[in-house]
Amino acid sequence: MNTIRASTKGLETIDRLRQQKGWNRQSQAWCQEAFTTVATLRRFWQRDPIQQDTFIRICHAVNVERWEEVVEGAIPASAVQLVRSDGMPDVSIFYGRPDELAKLTQWITTDRCRLIALLGMGGIGKSTLAVRLAEQLAPQFELVTWRSLRYTPSLEKLLSELTQLLCERTDLAQSDTIEEQISSLIEGLQRHRVLLVLDGWETVLSSGDFAGHYREGYKSYGEMLQRVGQEGHKSCLLLTSREKTPEISLLEGQTAPVRSLNLTGLGEVAQEIFRSEGLADEEQWSRLIQIYRGNPLVLQVIATFVRELFGGSVTEFLRQGGTLITGDLNYFLRQLFERLSSLEMQVMQQLAHTQEPMLLQQLREALPDISNQDLLGALQSLWWRSLIERSATGAFTLQPIIAEYTIHYLKWLRDKEE
Ligand SMILES: Nc1ncnc2c1ncn2[C@@H]1O[C@H](COP(=O)(O)OP(=O)(O)OP(=O)(O)O)[C@@H](O)[C@H]1O
Ligand SMILES: [Mg+2]
Repeated sequence: MNTIRASTKGLETIDRLRQQKGWNRQSQAWCQEAFTTVATLRRFWQRDPIQQDTFIRICHAVNVERWEEVVEGAIPASAVQLVRSDGMPDVSIFYGRPDELAKLTQWITTDRCRLIALLGMGGIGKSTLAVRLAEQLAPQFELVTWRSLRYTPSLEKLLSELTQLLCERTDLAQSDTIEEQISSLIEGLQRHRVLLVLDGWETVLSSGDFAGHYREGYKSYGEMLQRVGQEGHKSCLLLTSREKTPEISLLEGQTAPVRSLNLTGLGEVAQEIFRSEGLADEEQWSRLIQIYRGNPLVLQVIATFVRELFGGSVTEFLRQGGTLITGDLNYFLRQLFERLSSLEMQVMQQLAHTQEPMLLQQLREALPDISNQDLLGALQSLWWRSLIERSATGAFTLQPIIAEYTIHYLKWLRDKEE
């Protein structure tokens, strides 16, 4: 693996950034965030060559935007391995997530997982985290490649692009069956150590049904997933999805090479979003984060709204009561709700109206027309979509913004029908 060292000028930049973080040069917090030791950090400061991936993590920990710019001399050609493609988000502004990065790094590098699903509600930060991780891990792979599924490419098209990249095969015959194409992909994943990121898996899943069913014409995506998870190879497929898929659910396990991580909100570090928007009333920021469950997309929309309509006063905004659903959020949430089946909608309606966490038995009593099997199916599906929460007592509930939007959405549906 490559070793690199910082330039003198590069160290000055790092020094400035670490002061902003309030860290000293051999800070434990820094070591923890960069998954390194004090000894290595010391070598970094002495400008001794260190492993490239450690170097990158040390830089990222103090929010260096482009680590390439603080390196001494030219970057070794093999360092530029991340194949960027359309739709890949810019992650130059990135807060928190040290635990998630540590866990995923361990799964990929130590445990050698073959298939990982990064799951969570829309806007929670799946794509952002996946890019950050891909950037950090790039030096450990021969190739890191990113594909957005936003425009739902056919699997044939996706596989033909990927196999060309991995197998340098340009002779893929049109007549190759989808099974043969998947085999070619696996062959590429066996021959090279590749990190393949597929972003937005939910777009190949259908709506109006329970979560995890494939859209018409996209079932072969599920077959690919199953084979990548089951067959031996030395690569990793990381997918991000708003919904869990059955293949992951069946194959995953704590020691299995298939795992999933449910991403939750950003936590207190989301205060940075309010700071960058210049909001006032810092003592109320934690409350906003709690109400919106640290969802960075939602918090960004809210922060802009508070700045524009309340002159930045969070106190004034909170005085309005309720969880305000602005125009932008309306559109975003409608996308999530339009995917729900009618059974799921009935459960959502019940939870939103009760406004209290409900145990399974209470839900059964409140919804006597739904069979036990359907009710359990609907709950699992909502769980897979990250739309319901479970309280400490095991009762089901909705986060405030989802509860409020459920009522709003049902009214909107009724108005539309009239
Ligand atoms: N760790 C983070 N630090 C700073 N901003 C973040 C972070 N995570 C996410 N964001 C911001 O939040 C927004 C939503 O993030 P992202 O697109 O990654 O969410 P997602 O879970 O992939 O959503 P979707 O399901 O809609 O694809 C983006 O504007 C992104 O910049
Ligand atoms: Mg995304």
